[in-house]
Amino acid sequence: MGIKLLGVSLPLLVISIIAVTSTAADETGKPLITKTCAGTEFPDVCTSTLESDPRSLSADLKGLSRIALELSATKGNDSAGLAYNLLQNATAFKPWSELSACFYGYNTSVDQINDHGLQSFDEAKYDKAYEAVDLLNKDALRCSTFEIPELDESNTMLSQFTTVVKTILQLLF
Ligand SMILES: *[C@@H]1O[C@H](CO)[C@@H](O)[C@H](O)[C@H]1NC(C)=O
Ligand SMILES: *[C@@H]1O[C@H](CO)[C@@H](O)[C@H](O)[C@H]1NC(C)=O
Ligand SMILES: *[C@@H]1O[C@H](CO)[C@@H](O)[C@H](O)[C@H]1NC(C)=O
Repeated sequence: MGIKLLGVSLPLLVISIIAVTSTAADETGKPLITKTCAGTEFPDVCTSTLESDPRSLSADLKGLSRIALELSATKGNDSAGLAYNLLQNATAFKPWSELSACFYGYNTSVDQINDHGLQSFDEAKYDKAYEAVDLLNKDALRCSTFEIPELDESNTMLSQFTTVVKTILQLLF
């Protein structure tokens, strides 16, 4: 009976493993976004930000990760622009110096992602891409310590999304 059971279940087992493996590898679109984002610290920010880019809906895991990396630079650029605009109107030294620090941090890290992070990603050096996103994540955390109300929302968004992107990139290590 044991042998008969083995005879029946072994091919089934093999077929099941092949089915499960190829489903995971071929998974794209909304199911992949949902599943990938569920494994991150901020699933809602992850899902809404990735879904804001129409390319996400046809991407596999690697494609989705690259889109996430690009979006981290886009979000960082938005934050840099916001800080820059506020900086234009800063009159007192303290807000001026804090806004300068925020702008400089965002500006440098976004350039780092665009100049080196994306290339590293394409060379499969995912740890290098991770480091570039980590810099931007630290900038958002540092800028939020200044408690500039006008930057609250964008700092929170940026620190959460860059945390998400770091987790997603780690899936490729
Ligand atoms: C970055 O933000 C500026 C406005 O602050 C905008 O003009 C520019 O197109 C943005 N660049 C990217 C790549 O999103
Ligand atoms: C800066 O000041 C100008 C003139 O008062 C105003 O029009 C503009 O909206 C201000 N910008 C920001 C980001 O507060
Ligand atoms: C960073 O600053 C440089 C020079 O001031 C500017 O050309 C570039 O657009 C800035 N990048 C961002 C993301 O603000």
